[in-house]
Amino acid sequence: MLKHHLLAWEQFERSWGCSGLNNGHEASLNLARVDVCTYNQLSSVLRYADLAFHLNFLAALMSAKSIKKLTIPQPDDWHVHLRDGAMLAAVLPYTARHFARAIVMPNLQPPVTTTARAEVYRDQILAALPEGIKFSPLMTIYLTDTTDPHDLSRGHELGIVTAAKLYPAHATTNAEHGVRDVKNIQSVLEKMQRMGMPLLVHGEVTDPDVDVFDREAVFIDKILKPLRKDYPELKIVFEHITTSEAVDYVSSEGKKGGLAATITAHHLLINRNAMFKGGIRPHYYCLPVAKRERHRQALIMAATSGAKMYFLGTDSAPHFRQAKESACGCAGIFTAPSALALYAQVFEDAGSLSNFEAFASRNGPSFYGLPVNEKLLELMKIDHLKDDINSILTENRQEIVPYRNSAPLRWCVAEV
Ligand code: DOR
Ligand code: ZN
Repeated sequence: MLKHHLLAWEQFERSWGCSGLNNGHEASLNLARVDVCTYNQLSSVLRYADLAFHLNFLAALMSAKSIKKLTIPQPDDWHVHLRDGAMLAAVLPYTARHFARAIVMPNLQPPVTTTARAEVYRDQILAALPEGIKFSPLMTIYLTDTTDPHDLSRGHELGIVTAAKLYPAHATTNAEHGVRDVKNIQSVLEKMQRMGMPLLVHGEVTDPDVDVFDREAVFIDKILKPLRKDYPELKIVFEHITTSEAVDYVSSEGKKGGLAATITAHHLLINRNAMFKGGIRPHYYCLPVAKRERHRQALIMAATSGAKMYFLGTDSAPHFRQAKESACGCAGIFTAPSALALYAQVFEDAGSLSNFEAFASRNGPSFYGLPVNEKLLELMKIDHLKDDINSILTENRQEIVPYRNSAPLRWCVAEV
């Protein structure tokens, strides 16, 4: 029996080839690699129980490997930056051709702080859509210390505004007009709680004395927990989570409903080393900044679990090349062109393609109280498509550099 299992391992090792794994596989097959090495050195002491566990894992990987096509209800992007002007025209088609709806971030310059501005911005987005593409922008309002609760509730009632975004002042790009203290928006939060309007939070403290890699974890204790105590019925989306602390918190608290989290493709694919590989790599810099590998692994577990409190939000955040490649480069990674392929790769590598539909198409609408999209989207397995787009150009020939995966893409969107 033992011999049989060990033979299976040998077969596994040969068919995947430890050294032949590309980077994408390498990252997510860490567990398998460790086990293959353990087997090489310690095969004689492996217990049957371990083998059963490993072989289950192996079976999941093998069956996932054989899936060539995925058909799911068209996904939505629950967190995206579409910008305005020439940048909007250049980036919008990438989101709109794959996603049916998207929660559009309001951190323009000047920010979208009122219902009237949200309506104008929505119409700009609709006017910039390529012909024949159906896409619904779901608008958000940028909260400030002086947000008018009546304007917010009116916008929500009219169906113009879906949610409100809490940027702690100075937390990120164009967040200088954000909220200085949650106490300043008490009446807004009370109103939102009563209306069932979701609050979307950028979950980082801004205290310069807190290490940049700790700001999310500190935010949970200092801001999020007290906030949820004061407003227990308020619907909250903890946006673009990056830490195991956030996963632990959302996994336990989100069970009751009312708390969910978006997870980006880039935080599932890179850890903080990506920013420093052979030199400074500004195109892997975003906020919250990517963390250690153990945090990435926690995010993969959460996203691919199928649990209802996690859903897709790319945080695709384009900046012009010169604003990224600068002495003080902007935070933001533009993932929209390949986002769905990247997510699919993560789910495939985790042996969890069966949970992709929940994460990409079902959990978000369920949290926001919206219907799942009726239209279907097909993802196809491809043979190592080389993702060699270096940049896209706006109409005035300004460059935007998309996220480049370290491994070739293995999925593509077939049709919408
Ligand atoms: O990396 C980021 N970029 N994080 C944010 O929170 C904002 C975004 C942007 O607008 O560029
Ligand atoms: Zn964002």
